[in-house]
Amino acid sequence: MKKPKYDLVIKCGRVIDPALGFGSEADVFVKDAKIVKITRMSKATKKEISALPEENIIDASGKLVTPGLIDMHVHLREPGREDKETIITGCRAAAGGGFTTVCCMPNTTPAIDNQETVKFVLSRAEDADARVYVVGAITKALEGKELAEIGDLVAGGAVAISDDGSYVQNPEIMRRALEYAKMFDIPIITHAEDEFLFAGGVMNESYEGTRLGMKGRPAVGEVIAVLRDVRLCDFVGGKLHVAHVSTAGAVEAIRQAKKEGVNVTAEACPHHFTLTDDEIGKEFDPNLKVNPPIRTKKDVDAVIRCLVDGSLDCIASDHAPHSEEEKDVEFDQAPSGMIGLETTLGLVKTQLIDKGFLSWADAIRKMTVNPARILRLPGGTLEKDSVADITIIDPDKKWTVKKDNFRSKSKNSAFIGWKLSGKVFCTILGGRVVYRS
Ligand code: DOR
Repeated sequence: MKKPKYDLVIKCGRVIDPALGFGSEADVFVKDAKIVKITRMSKATKKEISALPEENIIDASGKLVTPGLIDMHVHLREPGREDKETIITGCRAAAGGGFTTVCCMPNTTPAIDNQETVKFVLSRAEDADARVYVVGAITKALEGKELAEIGDLVAGGAVAISDDGSYVQNPEIMRRALEYAKMFDIPIITHAEDEFLFAGGVMNESYEGTRLGMKGRPAVGEVIAVLRDVRLCDFVGGKLHVAHVSTAGAVEAIRQAKKEGVNVTAEACPHHFTLTDDEIGKEFDPNLKVNPPIRTKKDVDAVIRCLVDGSLDCIASDHAPHSEEEKDVEFDQAPSGMIGLETTLGLVKTQLIDKGFLSWADAIRKMTVNPARILRLPGGTLEKDSVADITIIDPDKKWTVKKDNFRSKSKNSAFIGWKLSGKVFCTILGGRVVYRS
């Protein structure tokens, strides 16, 4: 029997590929886990595909077809805290949120600060529902004292280095890290919060924080940390990526640095472009506790403005699973972080697209080609011969965030009960359907 020319066909969707500058109705053809072509189907092709099994033809009428979404900032908790998440469950959550690629942070137990652990994570991810790339540690055990073996980490497959969760407080160590990272042409991802300034703080330092009697983490702690790292990056000539930017001052510092030609990129998270610190006093929901903290309306507006003007390049979830037992304590005692893989797309649509800040193409760019270019990852585009990682989105689908529906092992979301618009319809990883709504 003649072998079919295609393995999978996605027909009649509106294809949006910012990398190609493509945005119109078309059919996408996949063969051997690669994109073959994007085109309008001819009569001859219609005949050709009629022999394909039904499940290999996806009707995407009324849907958006985009490159597989990339989340460059997640915590998968393996090794060490498999009670919160594993690589397999985290990747199931990624697929359910429309992400085909995730980059996992090294603050595991033990930390991903050596080549063996990088390889361990990559081997665990082999059969997962998403591609996993590893961000190695800058310093051993993320203690900020001694550089990790950066060359070994890169040789093992690390695509960037970061001490995410902690700031590299010692500028000399950060300088050396930037120099090493430059040798391997990888970015340093900085968690920019000066530890002396936030010492013991549990929420934003603000009128709200004072009213609630909570020790604050001042915005200036982020601004100073960003300014220092930007200057070091400029001095060394390296590449810096600022994680989860939360303050008006920090986005301004990044905008300015870009104008000067410093090689800096940055990301924003849904909770930082959606939530303000006056939410905390309502129910003291520990899921609202994150680092850096949710800030004021002025900061949220600035983050959105910089997503619009391009000073913030990417949207990342900072998916940070924590168990129910750990989070079910007083606000100030709870660990920081909230899950985000399964709510990011809906929040982007509801908060940024529906409110007229970003077009679909702008939003998709920040979740596909931009992170792919920063970390030099495959994918991020539907160009011929690229990996067949594809996300199909139901753009106006209304849905409610429900605790029981999370695929993540942890349920610590501050968005439970929220009504969102825009949901993943189907996620395809290397030509294989890994999620269908
Ligand atoms: O809130 C956060 N949680 N911020 C981080 O930087 C780390 C993360 C975690 O690992 O839980």
